[in-house]
Amino acid sequence: MPRAALSHRDCPKEHALSRKHRPETDIVHLGRRPQDQGGAVNPPVYHASTILFPTLDALEAAQKPSADPHRVTYGRRGTPTSFVLSDAIAALEGAAGCVLTPSGLSAVGVALLGLLSAGDHLLMVDTAYGPTRTICNGILKRLGIETTYYDPLAGAGIAGLIRPNTRVIFLESPGSLTFEVQDVPAIVAAAKAADRGIVTVIDNTWASPHFFKPILLGVDVSVQAATKYIVGHSDALLGTIAANAATFPKVAKAAGDLGIWTGPDDMYLAQRGLRTLAVRLDRHQETGLALARYLQARPEVRRVLHPALPDDPGHALWRRDFTGASGLFGAVLHPVPREKLAAFLDGLEFFGMGWSWGGYESLCVPQHPEGVRTARPWTEEGPLLRFHAGLEAIEDLIADLDAGFARMAAA
Ligand SMILES: Cc1ncc(COP(=O)(O)O)c(C=O)c1O
Repeated sequence: MPRAALSHRDCPKEHALSRKHRPETDIVHLGRRPQDQGGAVNPPVYHASTILFPTLDALEAAQKPSADPHRVTYGRRGTPTSFVLSDAIAALEGAAGCVLTPSGLSAVGVALLGLLSAGDHLLMVDTAYGPTRTICNGILKRLGIETTYYDPLAGAGIAGLIRPNTRVIFLESPGSLTFEVQDVPAIVAAAKAADRGIVTVIDNTWASPHFFKPILLGVDVSVQAATKYIVGHSDALLGTIAANAATFPKVAKAAGDLGIWTGPDDMYLAQRGLRTLAVRLDRHQETGLALARYLQARPEVRRVLHPALPDDPGHALWRRDFTGASGLFGAVLHPVPREKLAAFLDGLEFFGMGWSWGGYESLCVPQHPEGVRTARPWTEEGPLLRFHAGLEAIEDLIADLDAGFARMAAA
């Protein structure tokens, strides 16, 4: 099997953060302070709630505002373990700061609660992660916040959906399950042109800040399920909310007021996973593209949904704005009876069936956007499979799929 042509270095352009190092080098070094921890390469895991102060002066000083972002006053307000991770993610995203949350979904919820109030209007992309919709249709609705779902391909046309009370435009690109690429700069421009302080928020989980830096394109807040590629090993759950200087205080206050905090072991695992993000993503990308091309050539497959494929409808935007593709993509099969689909899926040796993604292992899960989408209904008749390309050898993965298609034919 030839190696996929595209690698991170071949990609359209490097985003220029105001640093002098290559992104791979930053991923290894950002946030680390070995000199502060006896020279140890990795940060100690601080299990801490109470922080003791030696004097009344020190205790009272800790209750006053401080410009020191690394001040430790109470376990829930930051420890040397959390600072390593939040500093590194903030720098990678090009953000003023980063809040850590216990899951990707809680990062979405905290960001929205920090930015919206009763009577506000939210524009939510129709291809958002499913449980993000649940937040909008449940808690936000109950609090008197109205959501309009918009077509992920709206681009500059989103201007026509902005109301006098629109406060947040939420993006996710590529979209969950169906991988439509949004015109992020056009939507940011429309939000700014409205000139009423509309905040743009994006779920940046698919690309991670290694392959996409939305804040550098003018987005205000970039949310990630670090559970996926940052943690990278299918064990810890964690979310990050990175924001520009104008918006960071609002999301940080919401997280603080709600008492949102994350266990130190999971923070440790996330900063540990982060250090290998660049090499893992290169391999996820390469294997994902090879699998996508293999699937495109299979007669059972109607179409493959992968923005890095040159014939994908989102390819031009992806090439313009992203520096790489992760290993998550979709494939629509020609309609088949359920028992044939089960014969394909049930015997797969290396592709696991289960939720989440971004770990070292390959996954293949049927997905059902039909009946969920409202602005851009999903009308494909055949099954939609979501593939995650893991770190296994491509030859073994393809042999696994070959055997699956043979079982499908025989069933
Ligand atoms: C795009 C996206 N955002 C957010 C989440 C939520 O992440 P978590 O499972 O850490 O809550 C997921 C989970 O699959 C996701 O795919």
